[in-house]
Amino acid sequence: MKNTVITFRDAKQKKEKLTMLTAYDYSTAKLMDEAGVNAILVGDSLGNVILGYEDTISVTMEDMIHHGAAVSRGTKSALVVIDMPFMSYQTSVYDAVVNAGRLMKEGRAGAVKLEGGREVCPQIKAITEAGIPVMAHLGLTPQSIHALGGFRVQGKSEEAARKLLEDAKAVEEAGAFAVVLECVPAKLAELITEELEIPTIGIGAGNVCDGQILVYQDMLGMFSDFTPKFVKCYANVGEVMKNAFESYRKEVQDGMFPKKEHEYAMSDDVLNKLY
Ligand code: KIV
Repeated sequence: MKNTVITFRDAKQKKEKLTMLTAYDYSTAKLMDEAGVNAILVGDSLGNVILGYEDTISVTMEDMIHHGAAVSRGTKSALVVIDMPFMSYQTSVYDAVVNAGRLMKEGRAGAVKLEGGREVCPQIKAITEAGIPVMAHLGLTPQSIHALGGFRVQGKSEEAARKLLEDAKAVEEAGAFAVVLECVPAKLAELITEELEIPTIGIGAGNVCDGQILVYQDMLGMFSDFTPKFVKCYANVGEVMKNAFESYRKEVQDGMFPKKEHEYAMSDDVLNKLY
């Protein structure tokens, strides 16, 4: 069954947890789709984990379309959500609609995600009215990392918590079908989850959110530059990969690979004519 925004709405009503992971390529998306996750986010975290930037600021529309289209080709039942990169929607409502449209037309997104609260509500409203579902993103919003002063938990003071709650209500009112809460105290995420009719998707926001998302390189131990406290490593695939690369290097150097079974044969008649 194809997951859509209706799946998200119904899951909240039925109190069924939603599952999301990030992916950036065809074969990983295919595995996640077969594993039955509800949605795959082509996150602009690709700037960090795929392109090796120190933040998400340099990620372009072309990057998102290129990787988004690959993920869409590998996905049958999960909803594909593609991140709107930095400065693709902040500049104007017009830019936001045009760029969200490109992510849907060229990246084959089923929905787009953008960061921010009240200040981006006109964009959320216009994109939604153009027929493109919008997932909002509050709390630690990596595109604003310079304004936030670094990667840190958001909404800890009364003022900051109140602002987060108001922003969550505002993005819902503007038409968002779900909201990601990143690096938010669990109790605040619980309050926001109770107050909203749309599902909350947590990452570093405790267990009470309506769903969860993780960056797949983090949950597979494939990204060692920085591991946030909220990450659980489900399998040390990074170690498995490194061991396999090392075995391959050794076997080639020792003449152990390739073996007979990896070779293609040709007839002696043909071969003899070459001498
Ligand atoms: O870009 C991303 O991967 C994200 C998730 C961390 C929610 O926005």
